[in-house]
Amino acid sequence: MKNIAVAVDGPAGSGKSTVAKLIAKNMNIVYIDTGAMYRTVGLYCIENGIDTKNEKAVCSVLDDIKMDIKAQMGGQTIFLNGVDVTSKVRTQEAGRAASDVAVILAVREKLVQIQRNMAKGTSVIMDGRDIGTNVLPKAEVKIFLNASVEERAKRRVGELLALGENPDFDEVKEQIRKRDENDTNRKHNPLRKAEDAVEIDTTGMTIDEVIDKISDIIREKIS
Ligand code: DC
Repeated sequence: MKNIAVAVDGPAGSGKSTVAKLIAKNMNIVYIDTGAMYRTVGLYCIENGIDTKNEKAVCSVLDDIKMDIKAQMGGQTIFLNGVDVTSKVRTQEAGRAASDVAVILAVREKLVQIQRNMAKGTSVIMDGRDIGTNVLPKAEVKIFLNASVEERAKRRVGELLALGENPDFDEVKEQIRKRDENDTNRKHNPLRKAEDAVEIDTTGMTIDEVIDKISDIIREKIS
């Protein structure tokens, strides 16, 4: 079978990573979570006292950040300077820091290069914000997932509870709204639906329904 690339973009909490991971497993292809890479840069800044809103300060430490990503069929393990940070990058604080550093062009260039290299010579499903528009513009399948802010906040609260955090619904909702604003209005490769992407509103849909819909689209495109 010819290698294929599936790009899954959408705002925070739209269900991208949950469904992309499961589709990767079902199709036996590599899953790449690009948000985890921005979160890793954010985490490094938090741990080293770097202000994530200070572009100069973030750029000055970029070369000190060595990221190794082990992409497997059903998931991804990410190492920051040799330490496994896969779980550590999932906190709200790392998410906020990720959204901050993601506006910086030098950060994006460094990570996009890693992402494109990982997609070479293999079939992948990659999720993020700019995969269909910028990282893999020739992807065979492009999906743009969306859901209402309410629904996305509910999902995020569930994830944070599972991580042992104690989230407040209104606070999470406000953070999602702010993150949408930040990700959509930034200058470099903002969150945007690619012209040739299929948009799916996952509000009220189960994970299985979303997976079935995307799997049908993939099957149709590659048959
Ligand atoms: O998908 P996520 O919530 O883990 O992503 C964290 C942040 O990283 C998100 O707010 C914006 C940024 N991001 C990005 O700018 N481009 C990507 N391809 C993936 C994530």
